[in-house]
Amino acid sequence: MKALILVGGFGTRLRPLTLSLPKPLVDFANKPMILHQIEALKAIGVTEVVLAINYQPEVMLNFLKDFEAKLGIKITCSQEKEPLGTAGPLALARDELIDESGEPFFVLNSDVISEFPLKKMLDFHKAHGKEASIMVTKVDEPSKYGVVVMNEKTGQVERFVEKPKIFVGNKINAGIYLLNPSVLDRIPLKPTSIEKQIFPQIALDKELYAMVLPGFWMDIGQPRDYLSGLRLYLNSLRNVGSPKLACGVHIVGNVLIDENAQIGEGCLIGPDVAVGPGCVVESGVRLSRCTVMRGARVKRHACVTGSIVGWHSTVGQWARVENMTILGEDVHVGDEVYSNGGVVLPHKEIKTNINKPEIVM
Ligand code: GDD
Ligand code: MG
Repeated sequence: MKALILVGGFGTRLRPLTLSLPKPLVDFANKPMILHQIEALKAIGVTEVVLAINYQPEVMLNFLKDFEAKLGIKITCSQEKEPLGTAGPLALARDELIDESGEPFFVLNSDVISEFPLKKMLDFHKAHGKEASIMVTKVDEPSKYGVVVMNEKTGQVERFVEKPKIFVGNKINAGIYLLNPSVLDRIPLKPTSIEKQIFPQIALDKELYAMVLPGFWMDIGQPRDYLSGLRLYLNSLRNVGSPKLACGVHIVGNVLIDENAQIGEGCLIGPDVAVGPGCVVESGVRLSRCTVMRGARVKRHACVTGSIVGWHSTVGQWARVENMTILGEDVHVGDEVYSNGGVVLPHKEIKTNINKPEIVM
């Protein structure tokens, strides 16, 4: 089977992290977002993943080459000359997606995280026998998403409304699709939105079916949602009794610590924390609801809460970093400095307090 991941877009909502890497390569729970998806696809027998991309394909491919070999899966790029939206890239990659088998293929948004119950989706798709399946999930704020109105019994989609201004329902498109090759005949090779132009049309033909996604789901393309997604992800690891979660007297709740990270004496870590490979967390540090990315250092007695510490950054001793502070790559926060919601661009040194949420350039 094949799959296409929509990788385009500039990831502006996840700046300053996306100033260093394309959004799908930003670490989530200690590995690039896109790896969570590629591993899930591989697990149900996908042999080839096409990345639909509109900028920096070399960065992506170089990064993923290692994983191609490790996972035993073919990864290719289909590059657009101009952004083709969320459907156009499928038309562009038509030849890669279709083969003699006539099998359906998966399409994923690159910034969604869930348990990826793809086997269940395949069974659902086979059972209804129509052209297209999408996963849906319930959210409190549906207006940020594509809203799906469906027959609760059969799953047949009656309406698909992208980012509705008035309330139509609270089940939303989770950005995970399984499509028959015939869907490609509906998509022109030009900028086209799958949500606004293609799904409403397939729904009208009664060929679009939705399945309610079991388990958690989150679009992690913005910092606040990224940290909520981490909490849900770690909780799902807890529910399956995953041995990856850290334990010990210095751990509170669900915490993921890479085996190549060092943790000093007398720290208190958790809940909802990820500490990436090569990180050094010195003694007496307090971490909660945060991500510390690959190669970062948190010095003695610092406190990081509700924040993201980007790759190779340092947080000085007795510093306090909180309230959705996002440190880009290689940022250095001085000793005893306080950051309340600072969004700090890569390679900056912070010597004075950031007292209210602001962008530091
Ligand atoms: N190749 C390519 N080219 N990819 C693109 C382009 C493009 O021109 N534009 C967007 N994408 C990719 C993004 O990188 C992302 O993986 C996916 O398409 C969806 O784009 P977002 O910008 O993240 O859209 P959204 O989050 O506002 O809404 C989408 O996702 C929601 C779920 O998270 C829609 O699909 C909604 O219906 C859905 O509910
Ligand atoms: Mg998104």
